[in-house]
Amino acid sequence: MYSPRQKILWFAFNTRIAVIVLQAIANNLLPDHNANVFISPEDPTLRRTYGDVIIEKLFGGFKRWDAQYFIHIAQYGYTYENCLAFFPLFPMLVRYCAYGLCSLVGSLINFHSSLLISATVLNLLIFVKSADILHRLSLRIFRSECKAYKAAVLYCVNPASIFFSAPYSEALFAWMTFYTLLKCTDNETLRFANIDITSGLPAGFTMMTRSNGSINLGFILYTSFKNVIERTIPEIVYKYKTLKHRLMLPFLLLPLLTSCVALFLSIVIALLPFLLVQVYNYFKYCIPNDHNLPEFLYNSEYVLPGSAESPWCNYSLPLSYSYIQSHYWDVGFLKYYQLKQIPNFTLAAPILFIILNNCFSYIRSNLQLCARLGIRSHIYSYGHRMSYKPKQICKGFGANDPILFVYIVHIMFLAIFCIVFVHIQVTTRLLASASPILYWMCSSKINVGPTPMTDQNSINEHFRRIGIGKKIPSHHLSIVNLEGVDNMYSRWKTFIISRKMPDCQSQLIQYYFLGYFFTGIILFSNFYPWT
Ligand SMILES: *[C@@H]1O[C@H](CO)[C@@H](O)[C@H](O)[C@H]1NC(C)=O
Repeated sequence: MYSPRQKILWFAFNTRIAVIVLQAIANNLLPDHNANVFISPEDPTLRRTYGDVIIEKLFGGFKRWDAQYFIHIAQYGYTYENCLAFFPLFPMLVRYCAYGLCSLVGSLINFHSSLLISATVLNLLIFVKSADILHRLSLRIFRSECKAYKAAVLYCVNPASIFFSAPYSEALFAWMTFYTLLKCTDNETLRFANIDITSGLPAGFTMMTRSNGSINLGFILYTSFKNVIERTIPEIVYKYKTLKHRLMLPFLLLPLLTSCVALFLSIVIALLPFLLVQVYNYFKYCIPNDHNLPEFLYNSEYVLPGSAESPWCNYSLPLSYSYIQSHYWDVGFLKYYQLKQIPNFTLAAPILFIILNNCFSYIRSNLQLCARLGIRSHIYSYGHRMSYKPKQICKGFGANDPILFVYIVHIMFLAIFCIVFVHIQVTTRLLASASPILYWMCSSKINVGPTPMTDQNSINEHFRRIGIGKKIPSHHLSIVNLEGVDNMYSRWKTFIISRKMPDCQSQLIQYYFLGYFFTGIILFSNFYPWT
């Protein structure tokens, strides 16, 4: 029998295999749509062996839409200005893995194929890791194995699944974001402001992965703010009241100082890689230079490196991102509200509805908490451990849970940003990779009904037969109760695919996740509009 964690790792792994297999089948069965978007030019000097043809057949369905950019960047670097919209960490990792792979099997496949394999394998490993981190983070937030387990299982079949397997930066971004959040909840060590700057590192990686990583700095700032208000200051006040010698007074402020230093260092650590990337971009595009591009990459439609003619080079803060977004992708305030975009708005509607609806219900049932910015009340009763009294009447997502406040603010900001600014079709993958909150909301809304195999008697009977009844920890048992005995022996069967849901709401969640999972793979792998 697998433990909950093993089940999640296996399920994450197997859903990734399922994505790869389905993508290959769909890509080879259905005709490709002519999407008329950026296609990375092929290097004519690259030889093509039989191995490359097979790789193309197996993984070619992943090279759609923005994946073309990621593979292009990994293969040739930032050869056109519009590539700067894609941040370098993911393509860089893919490139170095491909070098490694090429040195092993370079005689069988060319560099392009090894890039494709590296991207696929990397995303597979990263995804499994991210599911594990999400599980740990959810356990810490909810202290309930059941909720955490359900959230992680939902994540494995999330509506944007295809983007977590194709060469996109979503999986890496989700992994590093979840890791940042995990670090931010580790605040036991921050108590006396022992300098803990480790959350800066994953946050820095998110900022090198996607532009939205910069918003993750908010989590670090908020955590420090909350720690100072809830722990450091009450402790100082308490010490002050019991102070013996006036001379010690300045020392009381020491924890405050170390908190500031720790915060400053984490922010610097998080910003450094991002700044290096910006400096690289500036030197590449804003300093006049010969571009030295090979013939086949030369393209008069795009701005080439070393041309030094882009308007953003003259900004007082020469950051390319927002210029590129508005110039090449026409991103701007309400620019996306056109009749022909109605299908895209419809596709994004479920995730926006789930998130905004639950956010509003959180705010409604926690008005006071929100007004206190998620800070606990009674913080000045240090030493008297006031218990936190949950109100009985509150229903709805996360009622009386101060810990969720910052996640709610973050996702609401992103959701509203999506509605007014960005291309609405990216909403699903953007929200699904930027925060665990979608999985938490759905995990607390989805009910899994009993079946004969989840019946207490048959579980007891099973444990009696195998004779380890006493050794199973209770959190493990709660998952056996949820999944049933037979699912616990399976590496791929989980409630989300093997169970009929007992109520309408759970059923809708199940259909939404699985429906988007399959539709997304089939449409994306043939260049149909699923971006
Ligand atoms: C977040 O990502 C979207 C889509 O990639 C982008 O349009 C937007 O500018 C980003 N926002 C920030 C604050 O980085």
